[in-house]
Amino acid sequence: MGKRNQTLGEFIIENQEEFKYSSGELSRLINSIRLAAKVVNHEVNKAGLVDILGAAGETNIQGEDQQKLDVYANDIFIKTLTNREIVCGIASEEEDDFITIQGRNKKNDNKYVVLMDPLDGSSNIDVNVSVGTIFSVYRRVTPAGSPVTIEDFLQPGKNQVAAGYIVYGTSTMIVYSTGHGVNGFTLNPAIGTYYLSHPNMQFPVDGNIYSVNEGNYVHFPQGVKDYIKYCQKEEDNRPYTSRYIGSLVSDFHRNMIKGGIYIYPNTAKDPQGKLRLLYECNPMAYLAEHSGGSASNGFERILDIIPTELHQRVPFFCGSKNMVAKAEEFMRNA
Ligand code: AHG
Ligand code: MN
Ligand code: MN
Ligand code: MN
Repeated sequence: MGKRNQTLGEFIIENQEEFKYSSGELSRLINSIRLAAKVVNHEVNKAGLVDILGAAGETNIQGEDQQKLDVYANDIFIKTLTNREIVCGIASEEEDDFITIQGRNKKNDNKYVVLMDPLDGSSNIDVNVSVGTIFSVYRRVTPAGSPVTIEDFLQPGKNQVAAGYIVYGTSTMIVYSTGHGVNGFTLNPAIGTYYLSHPNMQFPVDGNIYSVNEGNYVHFPQGVKDYIKYCQKEEDNRPYTSRYIGSLVSDFHRNMIKGGIYIYPNTAKDPQGKLRLLYECNPMAYLAEHSGGSASNGFERILDIIPTELHQRVPFFCGSKNMVAKAEEFMRNA
């Protein structure tokens, strides 16, 4: 699937029949996301020139200081999806509760809900380092036409029908899957068009990069400490290289291309880890699995976890299959 130099628009039309529920709704949804991403990209690129850097002065439900771009990106994605009446509900890292979209005439027959991290890597904005957006799509479980309920959002990650991310990096890319492989498109900013630059992306089965915030080492569980020591040992193809940007999207993107593992474990400060199951871990786990990688909480598959809360956190081990399996072995044996 997918020819080089094909545009994202052409790709969506050509692969429409592969989308599970081919009413065109999912295609329109991906179209809206790519549009919103262009608007956010434009603003991210201007950061530093206009007054968009720094804190917004509010704290989100996660207890984090919101950056202006967190708020801006959240607004753009929500407005774009709401105005087009493409989904029936949205949940976001930056919103306390989920949003119900009833549509004009209080009627909305759309089948999909979107969950998102509108701006990932907030702490990197002010220093001109890559940030991203993560999105996750489910088919609602309650009947169409009625307002969405919390059950529509608290589905295990294996129910996702699409997931992806945008990385606002040295170039801007959108990487997504609807369950038929993972494809990456690069934005040509001069003409505002995304081109298929990375068809059928494959997570290398093995790798030599480990990505973890080692500053928290003393607070890590013993299994993670042991695994890090293993990564650093001079044996076989080790020591591995340490690379940690502090934007999940960018760390994941690099590891998917080069082979590696990303770990954000539970720590003394964050007993459930820091990353959010619904907005960060599930979509990344979906992309990892659909490209041959894997994702775990250290003991079980991320996509099997039944969520109990919207903003639930989870320890996250994600990347090359053999590396994740090795880290799990250290967790089991610790
Ligand atoms: P967000 O900016 O959406 O709140 O996410 C930040 C996350 C993730 O992107 C990153 O990998 C991680 O937090 C970094 O955390 P530390 O600074 O604790 O390493
Ligand atoms: Mn945040
Ligand atoms: Mn994030
Ligand atoms: Mn965020």
